[in-house]
Amino acid sequence: MSDRANLLISDVLQKLHEVIVEHDVTYDEYQGVKQWLIDVGEAGEWPLFGDVYIEHWVEEQNFSDRAGSQGTILGPFHLPGAPHLHAPFELPHRLEEKGDPTLVTGRVLDTDGNPLAGANLDVWQADADGRYSSFMPGPPDGNLRGQVTADENGHYEFRTVIPGPYTIPLDGPTHAMTAAAGWSPWRPAHIHLIISAGNLEPLVTQLFIDTSDYLDSDVASAVKAELVVHPERAENGTLKIDYNFVLAPAKAPTAVS
Ligand SMILES: [Fe+2]
Repeated sequence: MSDRANLLISDVLQKLHEVIVEHDVTYDEYQGVKQWLIDVGEAGEWPLFGDVYIEHWVEEQNFSDRAGSQGTILGPFHLPGAPHLHAPFELPHRLEEKGDPTLVTGRVLDTDGNPLAGANLDVWQADADGRYSSFMPGPPDGNLRGQVTADENGHYEFRTVIPGPYTIPLDGPTHAMTAAAGWSPWRPAHIHLIISAGNLEPLVTQLFIDTSDYLDSDVASAVKAELVVHPERAENGTLKIDYNFVLAPAKAPTAVS
């Protein structure tokens, strides 16, 4: 076993043991937790649980000192290989897609302000009812997922609709724990992006819609003030979001023993 694994595993178990002592945990509570751990596995919710209740700490720890734009959690609903879109850069959607039509534009820059021509933006989001394609009933596979490329000035744009807020699945063990603790199961409305260019550090982030409920009670604790955007209503009725992304140099890889 590596020293690193020994250290982390020992520390996690020690902190768990301290909770048992500090709160005088009963046998009934231990058996309940054991069954809940089994339930999370059987429901396939470990990715959900990790991304909702653990990932934001990892993201903060790894990137809080990074130059450039703020990132936040990846979450469990990204699918690689979304289609590369061409003008007019419209995310794939149903004929009668619900929700406010929205144009998202901006530039991708390095930390010196130079445009990053050819930067790739991988975009995915829930529909107006808060449902992700391929994970929830309703939208067809590929709905509201696509990739766009920044032009020679680092300018990007894509067309979509304002997503809805959503809850973690209400019939699963992650929500059972959330409800037992008395916490909100909601995530505020947001658009996910991964922006990458050359050998710079890819930026995994989300843009949060400022008119959404739950900005102050995100179950995944992923909201950051710098990532809250205000869609402006244009004369043609379309909403417009303008946001520049600044990519930082890649972090030096950490040696794993
Ligand atoms: Fe999401």
